[in-house]
Amino acid sequence: MLPPLTFSSRTVLLTGAGTGLGRSMAEGLLKLGASVVICGRRGDVLDKAAAEMEKAAVAVDGHGAVLAKTCDVREPTQVEALIAAAYERFGKVDALVNNAAGNFICPTERLSYNAFNSVVDIVLRGTANCTLALGRRWIADKQPAAILNIVTTYAWTGSGYVVPSACAKAGVLAMTRSLAVEWGRHKIRVNAIAPGPFPTAGAWSRLIPPPVEKLLDPARTVPLGRAGEHAELVNLACYLLSDYSAFINGECVVIDGGQWLKGAGQFSALGELSPSDWDAIQAQMKPRK
Ligand code: HXC
Ligand code: NAP
Repeated sequence: MLPPLTFSSRTVLLTGAGTGLGRSMAEGLLKLGASVVICGRRGDVLDKAAAEMEKAAVAVDGHGAVLAKTCDVREPTQVEALIAAAYERFGKVDALVNNAAGNFICPTERLSYNAFNSVVDIVLRGTANCTLALGRRWIADKQPAAILNIVTTYAWTGSGYVVPSACAKAGVLAMTRSLAVEWGRHKIRVNAIAPGPFPTAGAWSRLIPPPVEKLLDPARTVPLGRAGEHAELVNLACYLLSDYSAFINGECVVIDGGQWLKGAGQFSALGELSPSDWDAIQAQMKPRK
């Protein structure tokens, strides 16, 4: 969609980009000439992704480079170390994509305190950690920049059975709009994307086990009758990170085929499951200690 080399001489840091939508966005940016910094908790996953991405991008136009570094976004010291490594390698960072997330379906009364906190810590605190660390540098350096936060449509509708994620994503949306105002004068734009269903192994394995599949089938729940394609979201993300959207600030763009308007709070449909369905789902999905 965008001209080749739209991001030449730009560096974009993406969290949770060894897999899924984060990886797809990193690949899309690389193909438009960006250098990308990708992070996640699993070094082997990141290294494999980085090697494959770099090979494909170099084959496209000879631009772009990938720095892969493990980082748990919940830990401010690890976030600082990641950003220091990015500046050391590329000299600057121009944009941040807060994409890392944790989520699983569970009746709220069955959640432990730690289960609630682990999701909120990744999604809300992780986003705040990366945003603060880079924002401070950008303001001190007087450097224009763009932040893109990946939220969900239930950030504003709420949704049963994914309550920690809904609370955390709502917080990220509030952060998006608040910082768009506060940091606009520093030429830091802050926007968000709210995706509908986009097939990824991470989301599908945790959110759509077999008894849930029929309740959330995109063919029924999405007016356009299908799930999203990664390229559709990648185009939107690249646009919002690029100078072509220079006057868009504080916006959250929905890309869901009309799903939330048809039936807000996707996972609320899981009210149709019985306690024994939930016993079976948890026996299959909840980690054993
Ligand atoms: C109930 C669960 C559970 C489950 C974990 N827990 N899974 N409780 N049902 N299915 C509990 C554990 O028992 C533990 O509590 C606590 O949560 C933390 O679990 P850990 O495995 O120790 O934590 P950690 O290794 O940090 O893993 C975090 C995680 C995990 C969120 C639980 O799923 C993860 O790493 N996710 C990352 C990737 C991901 O989630 N991708 C999907 C994003 S999709 P106790 O009390 O026992 O210690 C997305 C889409 C949104 O966001 C919208 C879609 C339309
Ligand atoms: P995914 O592949 O599971 O992506 C999540 C990524 O976050 C993983 O690479 C994971 O890597 C990383 N991560 C998790 N905890 C982390 C931590 N503490 N520190 C650093 N990285 C961490 O799932 P996805 O579907 O692509 O999701 C990407 C984004 O899209 C998320 O924000 C999600 O909420 C949003 N979203 C997805 C959909 C969808 O339908 N797929 C819909 C709406 C919104 P490690 O485990 O190696 O750390």
